[in-house]
Order: sequence, then C-alpha cells, then structure tokens
Amino acid sequence: MQHLKPAKSFALTAAALVALTGVAMADPDPTAELVIDGELHLVTRAPSDAITPNLPERYSGWLFRESDTRAMQMDDFENPAMLAAEAGADLWTTADGTAGQSCQDCHGDAEDSMAGVRAGMPHLNADGVLWSMEDYVNNCRTERMGAEAWRWSGDEMTSMTSFISLQSRGMPVSVQIDGDAAPYWEQGRDMYYTRYGQLELSCASCHEESYGLMIRADHLSQGQINGFPTYRLKNAGIVSIHNRFRGCIRDTRAETFAEGSDEFRALELYVASRGTGLSIEGVSVRP
Ligand code: HEC
Ligand code: HEC
Repeated sequence: MQHLKPAKSFALTAAALVALTGVAMADPDPTAELVIDGELHLVTRAPSDAITPNLPERYSGWLFRESDTRAMQMDDFENPAMLAAEAGADLWTTADGTAGQSCQDCHGDAEDSMAGVRAGMPHLNADGVLWSMEDYVNNCRTERMGAEAWRWSGDEMTSMTSFISLQSRGMPVSVQIDGDAAPYWEQGRDMYYTRYGQLELSCASCHEESYGLMIRADHLSQGQINGFPTYRLKNAGIVSIHNRFRGCIRDTRAETFAEGSDEFRALELYVASRGTGLSIEGVSVRP
C-alpha cells in the first residue's frame, strides 16, 4: 500500500462551489494500524474485487482521519461512542411493551446472539424484503414486544444499534448481494452513480474518483460504512448510516431521501458490499 490518493484526475463538476483542492494534505500514515486497546486488530485495508472494479483497494474511513481522532477510536475509554453502546446494553435487558419482555428474554446474551449481525446487514427478511438493522429492531418492538417503534435516529435506536454492532467488531463485512438480494444491490449501485443536486455530484464523484483529496477541511474517504454507527464529534452524538447518506446528498444541494426509505436500504446494501472484507468497527469516531 503506497498512498491513498488515486493518480487519476477527478471529474467533479461545479468544482468552484465545492472548493476541492487537488493536493492531498493529510494523507494518512500508510503504516497506520487500527488496534483497539492494544489487543484487537481491525482490518482497515482489504483487497478489491469485482464489486469495486474502480477501486485499487478498499480503505476504512478511519485511515483518512487525523491522528487524534484515530487514537480516540483505539481506546475504549476515550471512544465517546462507548457510552451509547452502554446505554444500548441497558435497553437490551429492559422489559418494555405490553408483552412485558426485554430483548434479552428472547435473544439471550447479545454477545452470542448478535455476533455477526452487523457484518451481514442489511439483509433480506423472511419475506424476501431488504431490511436494515433498525427495521429488525423495530419489528421486534412492535410485532413481538407490543412496544412503540423507536425513531430511526433517536437516542434509543442509535444506542441499540451501537450495542448490537459492537458484537461484530473485528468481523469482516460480508453481505448477500446475489439471488433475491440482487435487484436491491443493483438499485443501490445505480443510486451510487447518479449525479444529484445543483452540483451534479454522485457518491462516486467524491468517494470513488476523489478520495484522498481535501474537500474544504475534510479529507475525503471512500465513504465506507464498516465503521457505523459512528460517533461524530461535530454532532456530539451517534450518527446512523442513513443519516450520513442524507447529509452527503444534502451537501450536493439536492432533495434527499428519508431515513428508513427503500432507496436508502438499497444504497446501504450496495455501499456495505463495497466494504467487503473490511472489519466492522462499530462503533467508530469521526470528526
Ligand atoms: C418475543 C421474542 C423477541 C423479543 C422480545 C425481541 N426479539 Fe428480536 N427477534 C426475534 C425473532 C424470532 C427474530 C427473527 C429471527 C431470529 O433472529 O431468530 C428476531 C430478530 C432480530 C434481529 C435480526 C437478527 C438477524 O440475524 O439479522 C435483531 C437485530 C433483533 N431481533 C433485535 C432485537 C432487539 C434490539 C430487541 C429488543 C428491543 C428484540 N430483538 C426483542 C424475537 C424477539
Ligand atoms: C461533495 C462530495 C460528496 C458527495 C457527493 C458524497 N459525499 Fe459522502 N462524504 C463527503 C465528505 C467530505 C465526508 C466526510 C469525510 C469522509 O469520510 O470522506 C463524507 C463521508 C461519508 C461517509 C462516512 C465515512 C466514514 O468512514 O465515516 C459515508 C458513509 C458517505 N460519505 C457516503 C456517501 C454516499 C453513499 C454518497 C452518495 C449518496 C455520498 N457520500 C456523497 C463528501 C461527499
């Protein structure tokens, strides 16, 4: 691995508006290793394959962050997302709803039952419909517990998805994209290459053609989701995958899709597959 800046030129339109500079000012240390608490080694670089023909290699967003942000994620006492995961652990054992049950009552210890769940999300439900983790959680709440659905990006939901995702930390992203999942994946791929908004930028314009470059103060990554949910220092809170998608589309000055929309589920599947082989970091720290 030599450098994270692609040699090819970028094809951004309306570059004046987005103020991209052509210099990679903050290329990460190519020898950077993500090791949690000095013990758990996470994979932040994974080989490319047929899913990502335009990427020489897959890189976690962690590699593109400043060293102090990277360090925060390497120490569970420093990682502010751990508080959310702890709140999720409490919710896991708290009975709620008319059935008087907790998640734990059916699923047992999350350490066992939820291990690997984040790595395979989103996936088809028993009816062959693509669901994100939030959908599964809310389905259990409304259909099985007799409890109210949580808001997609509300505190309870993001705490729970943080806690569940943590049970897959270190496992490689591996989502089903063939069979009945294929139409969703194709829809997501089409979205990824669609140019949105006044700036006419697609996800690919920034995260495939221009990663490694600086956009305003941000060092552009490949826009991977293996780190989600993520604690954003800017928001001082946990950000869901769909929330991040919304923000990125809004930045192109386009109308965006809603969190929990079918469009974002399909996009989530496609983007997840672009990170195949990278470790689940959930929960990560980003600026
Ligand atoms: C009454 C029993 C019951 C309760 C209570 C319950 N679940 Fe479930 N849950 C299930 C069943 C059954 C499934 C479907 C298939 C499976 O995983 O066995 C499921 C599936 C899931 C999945 C998807 C797992 C996967 O492999 O993709 C998640 C995530 C989940 N539940 C989270 C929760 C959370 C969080 C709570 C508490 C807020 C909860 N569940 C409460 C029974 C329950
Ligand atoms: C105008 C450029 C631009 C476009 C277009 C754009 N993004 Fe982003 N995106 C950013 C910037 C800047 C960041 C923050 C720095 C980083 O992680 O790359 C970011 C961050 C992300 C992240 C967080 C990565 C991490 O590791 O925390 C994801 C995921 C993401 N984008 C997905 C998308 C998707 C999907 C699309 C298309 C719907 C998209 N982005 C479109 C600029 C863009």
